[in-house]
Amino acid sequence: MTIAIIGADGQLGKDVQLALKAHDTRPIAHGEVDITDAAKVVAAIAAIHPDWVINTAAMTHVDDCEGQHMRAFEINALGARHVAEASRQVGAALIHISTDYVFDGEKKTPYMEGDATHPLNVYGISKLAGEFYVRNTCPVYYIIRTSGLYGTHKCRGKGQNFVETMLKLAKEKESLRIVSDEVLTPTFTEDLARQIDVLVESKPPHGIYHATNDGACSWFDFAKEIFRIAAIEVAVEETTASQWNAPARRPAYSVLENKALKRAGIDAMSHWKDALGRYLSKKIGR
Ligand SMILES: NC(=O)c1ccc[n+]([C@@H]2O[C@H](COP(=O)([O-])OP(=O)(O)OC[C@H]3O[C@@H](n4cnc5c(N)ncnc54)[C@H](OP(=O)(O)O)[C@@H]3O)[C@@H](O)[C@H]2O)c1
Repeated sequence: MTIAIIGADGQLGKDVQLALKAHDTRPIAHGEVDITDAAKVVAAIAAIHPDWVINTAAMTHVDDCEGQHMRAFEINALGARHVAEASRQVGAALIHISTDYVFDGEKKTPYMEGDATHPLNVYGISKLAGEFYVRNTCPVYYIIRTSGLYGTHKCRGKGQNFVETMLKLAKEKESLRIVSDEVLTPTFTEDLARQIDVLVESKPPHGIYHATNDGACSWFDFAKEIFRIAAIEVAVEETTASQWNAPARRPAYSVLENKALKRAGIDAMSHWKDALGRYLSKKIGR
């Protein structure tokens, strides 16, 4: 199959290219096509005429989005619409990546695909608007909501992923304060990319799919597990999101249940601790 991958230089985009290498993949980087330019997106997809389009491009820095509403909407909402329209015109199935931040975190059990959305920040609102554009524009769509991505390739929007930040800070400081009242499921981009390959191969009914690693933890728990596996001795103290005072509000609980993947019999995601172990073994040989 011919598969166009938009956002190809991002941390997820690069792993998606590797996971789908059995196919005829056509990477499209930001430098080639800016997804805010509707005509260019349509022309690029028409020239490839793919069976599938995978859109991993987004403005991903959550706090930056807070101060740049227009830019966040141009990329995450209208950009998604342009990609959906281009996919529709060539009859391609579209995989569009979205986020756990479409939820408000008031729920105390994992979010299902059909649960009510209520984003708390501009990033989440713009990504949810992107979801609506995709659903209303491209007949065969797969919206994949994921969470807390980290991978071996650089996160373009954030510069560093959480694991790299922890490893760096542990070298520079004697003690760290990490937020313990935000619970999520950190997800390894290699695992998500492999899950996307499984979805492409099986082509289940279209719709919204949650796809994260299994289990859940706070940022504090995540940091402690990083240091345990990496055998790094550093004092880690708990702090709260309100004390941290980031520009964007985040949900206190944004754990996703991979219910639709399980229903389709194609959930290939392993536990977050297993995924972290594999990542650290690649990254630092532990
Ligand atoms: N990172 C997370 O923790 C996380 C969590 C949940 C969901 N997600 C979603 O997962 C997807 C992949 O994110 P990621 O972690 O791989 O982020 P990333 O490394 O920042 O990749 C995003 C890519 O989008 C490209 N891009 C940005 N603006 C663009 C534009 N106007 N036109 C074309 N390309 C543009 C970037 O290119 P340049 O760098 O060259 O601008 C970059 O290659 C996104 O949809 C994101 O919303 C991420």
